[in-house]
Amino acid sequence: MCSRSVAVEQCRQQSGQRYTRQQPEKKPKTTVESNWQQRTDHFPLNKSEDFKRYPTVTSDGLRSRKERPRRAKMLMRDFIEDSLYNPHYGYFSKNVTIFSPGAPFDFNRIPDEPEFNRLLGERYSQFEDELDKEQFREDRQLWHTPTELFRPFYGEAIARYMVANYKLTLYPYHDLVIYEVGAGNGTLMLNILDYIRRVDPEVYARTRYRIIEVSSALAKLQDHGLYASAASRGHSDKVEIINKSVFDWDTYVPEPCFFLAMEVFDNFAHDVVRYDPDTEQPMQGSVLIDADGDFYEFYDRNLDPVAARYLRVRDAACQDRQYAGPLRSPPWLRKLRHSLPFAPNLTLPEYLPTRLMQFFHILGTKFPAHRLITSDFHSLPQATPGYNAPVVQTRYQRRTVLVTTPLVQQGYFDILFPTDFGVMEDIYRAITGRLTRVMTHEDFFQRWADVEGTEMLSGENAMLGWYKNASVMVTV
Ligand SMILES: C[S@@+](CC[C@H](N)C(=O)[O-])C[C@H]1O[C@@H](n2cnc3c(N)ncnc32)[C@H](O)[C@@H]1O
Repeated sequence: MCSRSVAVEQCRQQSGQRYTRQQPEKKPKTTVESNWQQRTDHFPLNKSEDFKRYPTVTSDGLRSRKERPRRAKMLMRDFIEDSLYNPHYGYFSKNVTIFSPGAPFDFNRIPDEPEFNRLLGERYSQFEDELDKEQFREDRQLWHTPTELFRPFYGEAIARYMVANYKLTLYPYHDLVIYEVGAGNGTLMLNILDYIRRVDPEVYARTRYRIIEVSSALAKLQDHGLYASAASRGHSDKVEIINKSVFDWDTYVPEPCFFLAMEVFDNFAHDVVRYDPDTEQPMQGSVLIDADGDFYEFYDRNLDPVAARYLRVRDAACQDRQYAGPLRSPPWLRKLRHSLPFAPNLTLPEYLPTRLMQFFHILGTKFPAHRLITSDFHSLPQATPGYNAPVVQTRYQRRTVLVTTPLVQQGYFDILFPTDFGVMEDIYRAITGRLTRVMTHEDFFQRWADVEGTEMLSGENAMLGWYKNASVMVTV
């Protein structure tokens, strides 16, 4: 069984190295005459000449390409975006199946958490056995989200929160307009609409729901779900599914709306920087892919405008906030560490949520009256080395395989990042001018969910107790 979050107890860390094409070789000569620098803690082959010769490509430029690029270089955020979202070989385009438990769990009849775990494992196997009957796949990427595990209670809690706030401030002058970015199987949408129809028909009459979904496969599934039963068919005239990336959004939406993003930030591409330990200058990471499809990292003193803007916005917005980073240790200690023989010539990497910053910009400029409701992981166990670093994992023969670098065969690996909600709250406020509240997943659902519905006979409550590493942020 595989979660994208904390349920790693059954996920075995295997070497996974057959997926990475990095080849440790002899130590390169350090390049001093240019602005860019090859990392030296992995001792790859010197690829400096290739770096000068190969063209720079972007994830946008690769969208029409059916083959993974070779003999090219690109920024880390373009590499991650291409790996996850390329329409032909990207992870979310072709490979993903989000687990659905079938009938909702009847928590009130489940004795305790071990039994819930057992039942979940059983349903996982049944779900996958059925899929294997249609098409056997050893590399099926299957994982679950809280929306699915705790349906319909999870969606109902979000609906309860929205209806309460809508009635307090917008009703009857405005419709209840809901946007959801990245709707997965479409379960949250159905659970929210079912709830509103059941408890508040007047509000339901004024509800409109729009999904913005990058994956064509998932958009089709969401549409299919709307026609799967008479109950869901009833919602179809309220729902519009827009199959595009939220980063391509260009329509101005002046009306007040709620904007949902549940477990979506974690897959937004990031840039990477390392710092010169002496001068503290950030250097931006790029990836070189050679003729054999092997990956090499390079760091450039010239930051591209997006990464440079992120650092500027963060510096301005987070003046009063302490956050973790490679430059937080005392300079003398850093210098000492880097002067040791064989020490790397740059600090550990720090991943910058540049796509998330761009998402906030879209919210601020295209949805000026939005109220964001988002939930995601504030920390992730077994991440790759670095600050704000991702977990990179795939699934093979029904087991999770973790690797130690995002530079792996594009499209086969989930690359998911933690969100520093403190920093993000400051950046969101700076960009959109709106105020927020951040709370733990547990606090939010304790307040808004039907917690009795998810309580087991032992008194344990998985919806509150699991996802300890997740937070919720809302616009207030
Ligand atoms: C981890 S799944 C979460 C699904 C669902 N929200 C849930 O909680 O079950 C991430 C979802 O976001 C979508 N997604 C990721 N990046 C996106 C983007 N830039 N624009 C629109 N959808 C995106 C993925 O295709 C997928 O549906």
